[in-house]
Amino acid sequence: MNTPFRDRIIVALDMNDIVICRRLIDALKDTIKIFKVGSELFTACGQEAITIIHERGLQCFLDLKFHDIPNTVANASQIVCHRGVFMFNVHASGGVLMMKAARDAVWGEAEKRGLEKPIILAVTVLTSLSADELQQQLGVSRTLADHVVHLAQMAKEAGLDGVVASAKEIKLIKEKLGDDFKVVTPGIRPHWYSHQDQTRVVEPREAFELGADYIVIGRPITASANPLESAEKIIKELEK
Ligand code: C5P
Repeated sequence: MNTPFRDRIIVALDMNDIVICRRLIDALKDTIKIFKVGSELFTACGQEAITIIHERGLQCFLDLKFHDIPNTVANASQIVCHRGVFMFNVHASGGVLMMKAARDAVWGEAEKRGLEKPIILAVTVLTSLSADELQQQLGVSRTLADHVVHLAQMAKEAGLDGVVASAKEIKLIKEKLGDDFKVVTPGIRPHWYSHQDQTRVVEPREAFELGADYIVIGRPITASANPLESAEKIIKELEK
């Protein structure tokens, strides 16, 4: 991907207060182009969060991780298409039929109404889950990496554009599914920040070197006393 690093950083707006959210977006708007609205912010503030992003000419990753019966996911995805977001996602564990339903709904609606098609991603395995939890709690007998690749293969078969996956699995996904199949990577921690609840973390530079198309960074920027300074520090280290 030739896009500069700064345009491939997605800041996760994991918060529930629209005033704080607006302040943060305004502080970062000349540095960061893509903001992620997840279930916390969307449940608290709904469309307003997306509107704030779009009004400033920025892009939105709507991270609601749909996982339901195909009909429900298709209908929700059709509505997402009208919101004009840059990307959104569904859970690969919902199955190929569910993912296909989302894609068909988006493509059908975009073509019918002349709308821009959002990038559709599948969530593979949450980066907060460890290999032990995957095997012991969820009963998955494959190794974590094999399971991620398996879910990514299902997403490709369903016609999705890429996956959300940990940096540790990027290389394998790109090798098996091709360079055009996008990988968006959360669980990013600059060396000067603590891991917290993320277990499979890497530094920003390492994630890009491994082939991530986009990286998602939340708390290292949003929980910082000076979010702009932290974002600039990350970008400076990347561009060094
Ligand atoms: O604060 P932090 O950098 O850990 O935020 C990571 C963001 O990426 C959160 O919004 C989380 O929901 C999201 N995410 C993740 N793992 C995935 C998919 C999304 O951590 N597999």
